[in-house]
Amino acid sequence: MLDKVAEQVKPFDPVIVGFTCNWCSYRAADSAGMARIKYAPNVRLIRLMCSGRWDPQFVLKAFAEGADGVLISGCHPGDCHYLEQNYKTIRRYELLKQTLASLGIEDGRVKLVWASAAEGAILAEEIDHMVAEVRALGPLNWGGNHGA
Ligand code: FES
Repeated sequence: MLDKVAEQVKPFDPVIVGFTCNWCSYRAADSAGMARIKYAPNVRLIRLMCSGRWDPQFVLKAFAEGADGVLISGCHPGDCHYLEQNYKTIRRYELLKQTLASLGIEDGRVKLVWASAAEGAILAEEIDHMVAEVRALGPLNWGGNHGA
């Protein structure tokens, strides 16, 4: 009986999918881990070679498969290892935000963050902020709502 009550009052634990680039933000997450900087364990990181590989469809797929939020992260503008790919990421991100807004998906569910390999603490802080924001928004349940 107490287990059922405890289960009912359990706070919502959001699932965040995080796309990171191999050269900067994935290494930032790694350096946060090596420095023992704690951050919310809600983020499932996926490593791409560059944030320019990221496709807005990845976000729609993540939402349809149960994610409550998506983080996209890469090298700072001007530092991309593939020259200008992260500028394309910015443009795709802005278009995606407009599309998501038209679908009624809250702004805080998708975030673009720049983090160099040395910025593990910054990435950890951004992850914590995002998890708190998505937790406050509540479950997305997009797949459930649309019968995916
Ligand atoms: Fe990191 Fe392009 S290599 S954003």
